[in-house]
Parts: sequence; C-alpha cells; structure tokens
Amino acid sequence: MSLKDNTSRYGTISRFLHWAMALLLFWQFLSAAAHYFLEDTAVEAFFWPTHKPLGALLLLLMVIRLLWALTQVAHRPPSINLVAKLGHLALYLLVIAVPVLALLRQYGSGRAFEPFGIPVFAGFEGEKIEWMMDAGSNLHGELGWLLLLLMVGHVLMAIRHRNSANDVMPRMWK
Ligand code: HEM
Ligand code: HEM
Repeated sequence: MSLKDNTSRYGTISRFLHWAMALLLFWQFLSAAAHYFLEDTAVEAFFWPTHKPLGALLLLLMVIRLLWALTQVAHRPPSINLVAKLGHLALYLLVIAVPVLALLRQYGSGRAFEPFGIPVFAGFEGEKIEWMMDAGSNLHGELGWLLLLLMVGHVLMAIRHRNSANDVMPRMWK
C-alpha cells in the first residue's frame, strides 16, 4: 500500500484523513444535535463542550487534506461523474466554511479562543464586530445542517454503487 494515491486507489494518507475525519464529523454532529434537540440535559452537558475544540481541529485537518489533495490531484482515482466531483468539492468547501464562520463569530464577540488550551486568539474589550457575529449566527448552523445532508447523500451513493460497475468503495477501503 502506497502513501500516495494512484489512479485506481487512494493511498494511506488520503484514506487516513478521509476515515479519521468521517469519525470526528460523526461526533461533531452528535454534539450539534445534542445542542439543538436536548438543550439543558445531561446528554448536552456531555457532548457540547467538545464542539468548539473539535470543530477547530476539523478545520485544521481539512486544510491539511486540501493541501494534500492538491499534490495528488493529477494521479488520484478519477470521479465517476460530474455530480460526484461537484459533491466532493462541496464537502471540502463546507467543512472549511462552517468552522470558519463560527470562528469569525467567536472573534467578533470579543471572546478569547483556546481549543485544547492552545491560544488561537485573545479576546478584546469594547464594541463587538457585528458583521462577523451576523455572518456566524446567520450561516454556521444552517450550512452545518446542509453539510450533514450532503454527507448522508455521499454515504448513500457510496453504498448504492456497491456491486455495480461504478463500485468506488475499494478505492477508499481495503
Ligand atoms: C466542521 C466543524 C463544525 C460543524 C460541522 C458544526 C456544526 C454545527 C451545527 C450543525 C450547529 C447547529 C446546532 C444548533 O442549531 O443548535 C452548530 C452550532 C454551533 N456551533 Fe458549530 N460546527 C463546527 C465547528 C464549530 C466551531 C469551530 C465553533 C466555535 C469556535 C462552533 C460553535 C458553534 C456554536 C456556538 C453553535 C450554537 C449556535 C449556532 O447554532 O450557531 N462550531 N454547529
Ligand atoms: C461511512 C461513511 C463514508 C463512506 C462509506 C464513504 C465512502 C467514500 C468512498 C467510497 C469514496 C471514494 C469515492 C470516489 O473516488 O469517487 C469517498 C471519497 C470521498 N469522501 Fe467519503 N465516505 C464516508 C464519509 C465521508 C464523510 C463524513 C465525508 C465528509 C467530508 C466524506 C468526504 C469524502 C470526499 C471529499 C471524498 C473525495 C476523496 C477525498 O478528497 O478524500 N466522506 N468516500
């Protein structure tokens, strides 16, 4: 198994990033759902504190994945059709836009941000930055749910193509 991708299968690095992020995103949506559906319960108290730090880690992993994908693009397995290509592109864009919007809101509110105790930015006194807060408040949750919808569609399509000429699972698994 090669570290790099080739035209018939993804390599170890792409696979590690794909499956590690799939697991972390699953957890991220558990915390979002707990916040939305189970406010002020023990379930929310358990999951919600992980939402911001894990969201920041996902952004970092996605940037690394994007840079890695750019180095592999010339020799990765080709998309089976345009919809698959655009769908993968949309997943990339959303996994970047969703946490960026939340970070904008966090910054604009004047609150410090220290995921896992690592200082990313300090807070400030004085007036909040309204446009940053509005962008986050209007779009973070909504685009987050859209991402979940696309992820579900992605998984269903991967399963639907099993045992067909377009079975793409062996490229990413085994
Ligand atoms: C890939 C990363 C992320 C995903 C998929 C995600 C997803 C979501 C979703 C679906 C919601 C809606 C839940 C609800 O309506 O109650 C939400 C809410 C929230 N998220 Fe995230 N999130 C991510 C990263 C972050 C980050 C990095 C932060 C903070 C720095 C953050 C802070 C919040 C806050 C404060 C809320 C509650 C307010 C709101 O609904 O906008 N999220 N997130
Ligand atoms: C059980 C869950 C999942 C399964 C079974 C699955 C399956 C697959 C398969 C078979 C491929 C190869 C498709 C091809 O080459 O045409 C693929 C690629 C891809 N998947 Fe998933 N996937 C899952 C979860 C996710 C999640 C949660 C994301 C969210 C970001 C995601 C994003 C992508 C992307 C962007 C690609 C394109 C290759 C890349 O750049 O890494 N997948 N997936």
